[in-house]
Amino acid sequence: DDARAEEKSAFVFEEVEAGIDQKHHVASGYDADVLLRWGDALFPDSPEFDPKNQSPEAQAKQFGYNNDYVGFIPIDGSSEHGLLVVNHEYTNEHLMFPGIVKVVEGKIEVAPADQKRVDIEMAAHGGTIVEIKKVDGKWQVVKDGKLNRRITANTEMQLTGPVAGHDRVKTNADPSGTKVFGTMNNCAGGVTPWGTYVMSEENFNGYFSGELPKDSKEAENYKRLGIPETAYEWGKFHDRFDLAKEPNEANRFGWIVEVDVNDPASVPKKRTTMGRFKHEGAESIVAKGGQVVFYLGDDSRFDYVYKFVTSGKFSPDDRAANMDLLNDGTLYVAKFDAEGGVEWLPIVHGSGPLNAENGFASQADVLIETRRAGDLLGATKMDRPEDIQPNSVNGKVYVMLTNNTKRKDDQIDAANPRAKNAFGHIIEITEDGGDFAATKGKWEILLKCGDPSVADVGASFSTDTTKNGWFGMPDNCAVDADGRLWVATDGNSPKETGRTDGIWAVDIAGPARTTSKLFFRVPVGAEMCGPLMLPDMATMMVAVQHPGDGGEDWEGFGRPSYYEDLSTRWPDFRDDMPVRPSVVAITKKGGGKIGV
Ligand code: FEO
Ligand code: CA
Ligand code: CA
Ligand code: CA
Repeated sequence: DDARAEEKSAFVFEEVEAGIDQKHHVASGYDADVLLRWGDALFPDSPEFDPKNQSPEAQAKQFGYNNDYVGFIPIDGSSEHGLLVVNHEYTNEHLMFPGIVKVVEGKIEVAPADQKRVDIEMAAHGGTIVEIKKVDGKWQVVKDGKLNRRITANTEMQLTGPVAGHDRVKTNADPSGTKVFGTMNNCAGGVTPWGTYVMSEENFNGYFSGELPKDSKEAENYKRLGIPETAYEWGKFHDRFDLAKEPNEANRFGWIVEVDVNDPASVPKKRTTMGRFKHEGAESIVAKGGQVVFYLGDDSRFDYVYKFVTSGKFSPDDRAANMDLLNDGTLYVAKFDAEGGVEWLPIVHGSGPLNAENGFASQADVLIETRRAGDLLGATKMDRPEDIQPNSVNGKVYVMLTNNTKRKDDQIDAANPRAKNAFGHIIEITEDGGDFAATKGKWEILLKCGDPSVADVGASFSTDTTKNGWFGMPDNCAVDADGRLWVATDGNSPKETGRTDGIWAVDIAGPARTTSKLFFRVPVGAEMCGPLMLPDMATMMVAVQHPGDGGEDWEGFGRPSYYEDLSTRWPDFRDDMPVRPSVVAITKKGGGKIGV
């Protein structure tokens, strides 16, 4: 009867057993086929991947490193033929290049970079646009696809919106303040309703080294964003990444980037109207009134949840009319109150504290220092906002908050209720009047993550959730055509929990709400990215990021180095091949909708 039907989970599949080993695992009855690996050819003239003989030129024609966001832009409305768009967030030198790792007193040392290595790294960043096709139930890459394209840390881009041409984004190399090269650390992302690819620039601070000139006005701005943080050595070989030589270059990163995939020669646009911070993702939905609403996370401890509402309306029948929608609109930052209300505070020059007295001469200044604007407005300091997904089926919004072990007892609030929050939580927002463009809404915590069998953790999964079904550290997520939520995780340490990251299916409706089931898990050392359910729900694309990466405390799985004692050689399992981050296509054996 109906009542019984309502109690059931929206997901029908046999749960994977949580655990850890060298391979990936998917629920039984499904295939999980590797579709694209780091180094795979994307063009008819791409050189074959040769890990011992890499070059920047070859890499620029091959699939990049550390696949993160995965999006799909259908061709002629098909779920079996379209463009796959994939972010390449960052590079792991110790896993990419042979012979550069030494273990000294139990610690990994990576040899200093030379220019060639840096240039390969730069070519391995960015994104991929590639035509794919399902033939006899299996996905294939169309190598001669006319729209195939690699975007790298060197691709010419244009700054658009209020910050374009401002003095604070002018450099010696670009006195116009509009012409930028490249994008990097593109984490989650989005595809717009008009079929463009949206890349977000997350931890861009790690590419800048050197010291700002003493008289620089950017010191406070850069400090708030953790610039410099020399994770990479690009500044040694490229002046623009050296703050002493090009003090304004870092103001040209930290934006949302929009790419017109229909023209492989198009210049990607950095949309400064959408704010500058450590952008995690940019998932969007069309509001009742036709405006397009983007939900944006700033992934740092104690940073904010944002949304952007376009001024103009989406034109479903006129793609060209949408191409600059992202240059005009209002950016809001979220304030969550203890009564379950959320207020979206407009980040507009001249309103409230966003004025000259606080150092903001214009909207350009406000956008360059979006975080400081959020501080002054009193936005709620969150536990690392990651992917945020609007759900067109139930009208709600799902906010992944991955963790925040630095939150102290006296810093907890209703929306971030756990001190030393190691496992994160998920907030569900219901905008007023079911209108995504509303400036107020209600919120509740959907799920406090972590192991429910450990009382101290305070997890809130339903009691139907098995020992395999709980997870920690929600990161990327997806909502499918039926409005079901799939959550990918980042950071399940095998030492702590004996389990890897994966994809969990989380019930959000009816009595099964907060029941979670493990659908797919990654090989050791990897983080789970993507995920994406195609419109026909017959394929789920997932991105296995940094497989085989270890850290020093992952006892029993070997050292994360290229030729010695690797924890896994996924996905090729060949002695002459390193681990390779890859996109995996999941389909049901014999076809049909996934999890139904
Ligand atoms: Fe790139 Fe916030 O994970
Ligand atoms: Ca991630
Ligand atoms: Ca997503
Ligand atoms: Ca993460």
